[in-house]
Amino acid sequence: MMSRRNFITTSAAGMAGAALGIGIPRPVASVPLADDMKWLTALGTSLTDEYDYAPVVEGRLPTALQGQLFRNGPGLFERNGYRKQHLLDGDGMIQCFDFAGDSVRYRNRFVRTAKFIEEESAGELRYPTWTTRAPGGMFANMGPEIKTQAGVTTLIRNSTLLALNEGLPLYTLDPKTLETSGQFEFPSEAHIPGCKAHTKTDPSNGDWILIGTEYGRTLTIRHLILDRRGRIKSQGQFSTSRMTYVHDFFATEQHIVIVLHAIEFSPLGFLAGANSFTDALSWVPEQGNLVMVLDKAGGDPVAFEAPAAFMWHSVNAYAAGDEIIADFIGYANPDHFIGEDPVFKTLMQGEAGNAKYPGKLRRYRIDLKRGSLREEILDDGHQEFPTIDPRKLGSDYRYAFMNRSPVGDWTLDGVAIVDMQSGSRDEFRFGPKHFVSEPIFAPNGDHEGAGWLLAQVQSGITGDNFLAIFDTASVSEGPVAKVHLTHHVPLSFHGYWSAQN
Ligand SMILES: [Fe+2]
Repeated sequence: MMSRRNFITTSAAGMAGAALGIGIPRPVASVPLADDMKWLTALGTSLTDEYDYAPVVEGRLPTALQGQLFRNGPGLFERNGYRKQHLLDGDGMIQCFDFAGDSVRYRNRFVRTAKFIEEESAGELRYPTWTTRAPGGMFANMGPEIKTQAGVTTLIRNSTLLALNEGLPLYTLDPKTLETSGQFEFPSEAHIPGCKAHTKTDPSNGDWILIGTEYGRTLTIRHLILDRRGRIKSQGQFSTSRMTYVHDFFATEQHIVIVLHAIEFSPLGFLAGANSFTDALSWVPEQGNLVMVLDKAGGDPVAFEAPAAFMWHSVNAYAAGDEIIADFIGYANPDHFIGEDPVFKTLMQGEAGNAKYPGKLRRYRIDLKRGSLREEILDDGHQEFPTIDPRKLGSDYRYAFMNRSPVGDWTLDGVAIVDMQSGSRDEFRFGPKHFVSEPIFAPNGDHEGAGWLLAQVQSGITGDNFLAIFDTASVSEGPVAKVHLTHHVPLSFHGYWSAQN
């Protein structure tokens, strides 16, 4: 039986804000999306209903696939006609596909953050977020505070489902009902302001590794390691004059590696309330990247220079003799995200925008003994949202999973499993007018990479949204099953597989 409820009243985007003369978005559409690209606006269209139902399954669910896939991403982009400026900005919505062997149940719930509850009650957006100023002009946007929307990543830690954004607090949810239960409590001595959404869990001992960034006269970067029971194992910090933006990082058994991109954050306009955080970022490739290597045991970080490349996401890193091997997806220019008319921004207004540069699969070889770094391009196609078998995090690994699409097409219409040792790739493409979200690996047995990939697909042809289930042994043969939802789903960032039932 399906249950569904609508809790949000929205009106046409952009109208009320303009009528009141507050927080006016930029003018509409000088270059409208071509007809065959208009389907992409579904990625930035709110899903205002919360569902709980048994979806229709096409094909056969693998009976050994038992557990829950959780996903997090923005679900709500406007209230009372005031719309977010960027595709990567919305209130966090958790989805769950609950697999019970021969059946699956779907539910979605918004994370009840303090911001969400207040704005829901008020019927309007009230707070600045990282890409969008609050209604009310500069006076309503002064100062450094950006409210969390708990809408980027999700994971289970000690039986509690967490929803993370960039910043504090981290919200806790019941993994069965997706009800928001409270906020994650760090040990009182822990200090991790600006906590990043991407964290790492060491499979060898259950350590949870977090980093945070804090902007002042310099950029302070902190790390915190909690052991399996939540006690502080280590924490530390360093400061850098490179005022940049960090989204993800690497962790090996011994080291934490943080990439300081060639992005420059100009705080003045942001603090004065004139710019959003993302509008205060600019790409300065002549700076190059700085790659900071920290020993988990302590000491000052060691800096390595690298070519300019913007990294949303790391793949994995590990020690190999005197070297650290660090694999990631990197852009020679993040023109899809910042700068002149990035597509993630123009799309929200139905306009075409820039996304020329591919996300290349890259490898840093960091020689700690010689103090050198070398970058290799492993694949110069376009890929994003890399994942691995989480049992291999921080150690030598063979398989990486990721979305791919042709260079020049940022929409990611396929799923690939890449053999990082041989370089071979097994890949399936849904074809044009499909957006495929990050493939999450669900293991079947003890062998690395043996199991299934779960990827959510928004079709621009049928308008359908479905979860595609691939056997990792035969990705190129296409999904073994599809779980069809009854509604669209906006862009979903990151997921987590829990074999617990
Ligand atoms: Fe991310």
